[in-house]
Amino acid sequence: MKARINDIDLAYSDEGQGPPVVFLHAFPLNRTMWAPQVAALSDRYRVVTIDLRGHGESDAPMWRYTLDQFAEDVSGLLEHLGIARATFVGLSMGGYILFTLYRTHPELFHALVLADTRATADTPDARAARFSMAQVAYRRGASAIAELMLSKLLSPAACEHRTDLRDQLRTIITGNQVSGIVGDLMAMEERPDATPLLSTISVPTLVLAGEEDLASPPEEVEGMAKQIPGATFVRIPQAGHLSNMENPAAFNAALLSFLTSVERGDS
Ligand code: MLT
Repeated sequence: MKARINDIDLAYSDEGQGPPVVFLHAFPLNRTMWAPQVAALSDRYRVVTIDLRGHGESDAPMWRYTLDQFAEDVSGLLEHLGIARATFVGLSMGGYILFTLYRTHPELFHALVLADTRATADTPDARAARFSMAQVAYRRGASAIAELMLSKLLSPAACEHRTDLRDQLRTIITGNQVSGIVGDLMAMEERPDATPLLSTISVPTLVLAGEEDLASPPEEVEGMAKQIPGATFVRIPQAGHLSNMENPAAFNAALLSFLTSVERGDS
């Protein structure tokens, strides 16, 4: 489905009925990365997955992208869907956007799930690497980005043996336009440090980390979780950065147990 939000067509899926759960994908993927979670949740929850601007079936305008703009797109889509409050799940860049959305629209949050993400801003080296990656995208296209990203997104074992995941990720990444990939890189490069926000988060929060995540090491993610009042931290075994895709059984078990405790009011 598509909706006209902030002057672009934003693609999304809206499946099931029940308390709304909204999923924000990682860089440089799209909403199909959440297929295992949609399958596990949509018999009990209203599950909304979004192709952020610049990704998948959404428009990818050639212009400046910011985390604030991504957050405004999400809040605009929720208004369009008549959702006043939701549980949000964001992985990596999806988490960066949720920090921004929490800062600008805290009233939208019923609960929060952060996976394989970090609150800190980019270091000078990381910022320089964004610039280099943007040049690769511009010169050699999305397929070159897919080859660069696979070893960051998957655990070493999955990168070697899971041809299904590698093929799926190549298809997702090469389906994105260069304008969107470069836009993401600029938005992430200039993101502010969200660490001061952590102690102000007052909704139930679950933090997940793939045990073999090379992009956001689990020790760092756990350190972030400790700064969020009352947050629960769970390590996902046998999973790299895309912990929801590599070990959906463990990811979904942690997510469902958290959602159930939130609905019961004991989280
Ligand atoms: C992601 O998975 O969204 C990226 O690893 C985020 C980043 O590059 O900082």
